[in-house]
Amino acid sequence: MTQFNDTFLKACRGETVPHIPVWYMRQAGRYQPEYRKIREQYSFFDINKNPEVCANVTQLPVDQLGVDAAILFADIMTPLKPIGVDVNIVEGVGPVIDDPIQSMADIQKLGQLHVQRDLPEIPETVQILTDRLHVPLIGFAGAPFTLSSYLIEGGPSKNYHKTKGFMYAKPAEWFELMDTLADLTITYLKSQVEAGARAIQVFDSWVGALGTDDYEKYIFPTMDKIFTEVKKMNVPTIYFGSGAGHLVNQWADLPADVLSVDWRLSIEQARNLAPNKTIQGNLDPSKLLAPWDMIQDETKSILDQGGSKPGFIFNLGHGIFPQADVATLQRLTTFVHDYTRKNHGGAE
Ligand code: CP3
Repeated sequence: MTQFNDTFLKACRGETVPHIPVWYMRQAGRYQPEYRKIREQYSFFDINKNPEVCANVTQLPVDQLGVDAAILFADIMTPLKPIGVDVNIVEGVGPVIDDPIQSMADIQKLGQLHVQRDLPEIPETVQILTDRLHVPLIGFAGAPFTLSSYLIEGGPSKNYHKTKGFMYAKPAEWFELMDTLADLTITYLKSQVEAGARAIQVFDSWVGALGTDDYEKYIFPTMDKIFTEVKKMNVPTIYFGSGAGHLVNQWADLPADVLSVDWRLSIEQARNLAPNKTIQGNLDPSKLLAPWDMIQDETKSILDQGGSKPGFIFNLGHGIFPQADVATLQRLTTFVHDYTRKNHGGAE
C-alpha cells in the first residue's frame, strides 16, 4: 500500500518536511486532454452532480502531476445554485447570472443551504476521494466578497464598480448579504470537512480590488467569523486572494493558518508581513509559457525564500489556464520535490 503523504498538512501547520509540498490552483481543467474528453460528455455542473466522475476528475492531476494535495473539483458558484441563484458557467467567460442582486428583497429571497438535501453529491465525492487518495483532499469555497461580485455584477468584472457601489450606497443590504454568504460558506465548508476533507481553502480571488480601509470595514469581520468557525473543525485553513499584497498585513490577524499570495508580492515580503503564518505561492501562471530555464530560475528563487524556514507550500499565484502544458507542470512538480529535498529538507 502506498503510504499517506502528509507533507502538505505538515507544511500548513508550520512543521518540518522532507521536501516542500506542491499543488496547483485549478489543477483539474481544460489544459488536460483527459478533462477535455470528459467535458465532451458532461457539462461542468454535470461533472459536479456525478460523484464517480467528479472524483476521477479530482484525482487526475494527482496521478498525472504527482502533486502533494488534491482539491475537490467544483466551482465557487456550486453552493449558490441550491439557494436560488440561476448561474451558468460560460466557456471562456466564467460564471454568468441573468438576474443579479439589486435589493434587500433579492437578498432575502436567497434560501439556506442544507448540504444533505441540496448537494449530497459533494460529501459523497469527498468520501470516495478520502478512501482512495494517498494525499490530503482540500475542500474549498468562495469568499463572500468574491461571490458577491458575481451576484451583483451578473458576471466577471474588471473594476467591480457595481459591487463597490452597492457596498458604499447600501451598507445594510451589504452586511445582510455578507452574513448570508458567510453562513452558506461555513455550512458548506463544514460538510466537506465532516465528509473527510483534510484542509480547506477560501478563494477570495477579487478582494484585492479593495483598499485597506474598505477591507477592514466591509470584509474583515466576515472573514474573521468564517475562519473562527471553520477552525473549530481542526483542519488547516488557507486564504487566497490575487493582487492583494496590500491586504496581507491585515490577513495576518485572521485566524487562518495559511496565506496564499500571488507574484505581485515576494514570498519574503509575505513572510515579513505575516510572520505567524504558513505562506503559499506564488509563481506567475503566465511563466508556464516561458522557456524552462526561466521557469526554473524563478522557481528556485521562490523555493529559496520559502524554504528558509518551515511553513511554505509551493503553488502558482493564481489558477492554471487552458493553454498551459501538462509536461511543463510535470517537470515543475518534479523539480520542486528534487530541489527542495536536496536543499531545504529538514530532518524527519
Ligand atoms: O482547482 C481545482 O482544480 C478545483 C476546481 C475549481 C474550479 N473553479 C473549476 C473550474 C476551483 C477551486 C475553482 C474556483 C473558482 N471558480 C474561482 C476562484 C479561483 C480563481 O481562479 O480565482 C473563481 C473566481 C471561479 C469562477 C470561475 N469558474 C471562473 C473564472 C471560471 C473560468 C472560466 C473559463 O471558461 O475559463 C470558471 C469555470 C471553471 N471552474 C472551470 C473549471 C475547471 C472551467 C469549466 C470548463 O469549461 O470546463
